[in-house]
Amino acid sequence: MPPEIKKITDKYACNSCHVLNKRVVGPSWKDLSQKKYSAKKMLKLIREPQPGNWPDYPPMAPIQTISSAEVKLVADWLNGLN
Ligand code: HEC
Repeated sequence: MPPEIKKITDKYACNSCHVLNKRVVGPSWKDLSQKKYSAKKMLKLIREPQPGNWPDYPPMAPIQTISSAEVKLVADWLNGLN
């Protein structure tokens, strides 16, 4: 994970529930990258999670404070993973 992505995902504790290659609390970053969400869509899903998209997981709590610029960096990184 590039340092600027680590900084953002540590700031909002994303990494305590999402890790690169395995399921922890939430889906792995690799699994999330398969969805190919746009930054806009991902921002919406972080602010208003849709637990129905991941039926065997507990619901993610919404994170309102992350900015759209931060989500864009995370989304661009995720979409470049595969
Ligand atoms: C407390 C644990 C937790 C934290 C913190 C967390 N997530 Fe999640 N996340 C989950 C779980 C569980 C799911 C699957 C269930 C759901 O979507 O509600 C999920 C789903 C997602 C999804 C998929 C949404 C969808 O509908 O497909 C994305 C993208 C995501 N998280 C990104 C992030 C980002 C980025 C952060 C940090 C800003 C973050 N998550 C923080 C637990 C967490």
